[in-house]
Amino acid sequence: MPMKQSQSLEGSKMNELMDQLPEQYTRPTPVRVIAVASGKGGVGKTTVSVNLALALGMAGRRAVLLDADFGLANVDVMLGLQPRLNLSHVLTGACALSDILLDAPFGVRIVPASSGTRRMAELSTAEHAGIISAFSELGPDTDVLIVDLAAGLSPSVLAFAQAAQQVLVVVCDEPASLTDAYALIKVLSREHGIHRFHVLANMVQNSREGSRLFAKLARVTERFLEAQLDYAGAIPLDGLLRRSLQMQKAVVEAYPTSSSAQAFKKLAQHADTWPIPAGARGHLEFFVERLVGAQSRPASVLS
Ligand SMILES: Nc1ncnc2c1ncn2[C@@H]1O[C@H](COP(=O)(O)OP(=O)(O)OP(=O)(O)O)[C@@H](O)[C@H]1O
Ligand SMILES: [Mg+2]
Repeated sequence: MPMKQSQSLEGSKMNELMDQLPEQYTRPTPVRVIAVASGKGGVGKTTVSVNLALALGMAGRRAVLLDADFGLANVDVMLGLQPRLNLSHVLTGACALSDILLDAPFGVRIVPASSGTRRMAELSTAEHAGIISAFSELGPDTDVLIVDLAAGLSPSVLAFAQAAQQVLVVVCDEPASLTDAYALIKVLSREHGIHRFHVLANMVQNSREGSRLFAKLARVTERFLEAQLDYAGAIPLDGLLRRSLQMQKAVVEAYPTSSSAQAFKKLAQHADTWPIPAGARGHLEFFVERLVGAQSRPASVLS
């Protein structure tokens, strides 16, 4: 039919034009995937994940935040959202990943998890793989994925940390926080091939405390493990952050000039420059198809 023919002619013309374009316009750019982890619970992973995602969104990045704390999901609670559907519905095949996305401020999209169900807290390897590959659907509209992990060393934590390109380990000034962060880094480096970690000190009284915490962890890690730690900075202990939580808002939205909000914006700026490993690494990864033949990311949009 003439209509079809003209469409296919247009299609082939388009292909011809694409072939003529310089390579930097046609190769995919990788999606940055940052998993936020800690050994010990309650050190601020969810707070950091939410505020980092929103700070990246404020700066123009298209950010998605995955609540991967399947036992005690609470990203939605922190942002005052009420999900009707969550990842458990995607797993049963009741809907697609794009159907469960919730809109948060600054264009950020949230992937909610269900809370309090044993089933989601005990996923199989195949189910982890299913979730990770389902994200490819979101690739074209996503610059960065933040993954809020559960505390500890569950199979889900290990699978999602390995599938990310960067692991941000949150610590605070408590002996158990440092020893548990060390244990996490030990397992991820010895058993999961992750050798580079970004470390964020949270709830610090001043910047010296943050650097001191980092130095302590880096000293033992670099001595006993094959792991390199990079300091991602510190987030101050901030009463306005607690107040924003009560309002079910992120501090970067509720109190953008507060000390913690400023620190989160600085973290977003910093994270936007972390190098993304070139090419696929041979294990299950988020957005793996975007890594194959990918070009390096355009210069940071953040300033
Ligand atoms: N920089 C900060 N200043 C003040 N309070 C903070 C800060 N960071 C986190 N908090 C508080 O610490 C508590 C724990 O934070 P959050 O829930 O983010 O930790 P988590 O590591 O995600 O916990 P879990 O391991 O249970 O998932 C929250 O009540 C939050 O108010
Ligand atoms: Mg949490």
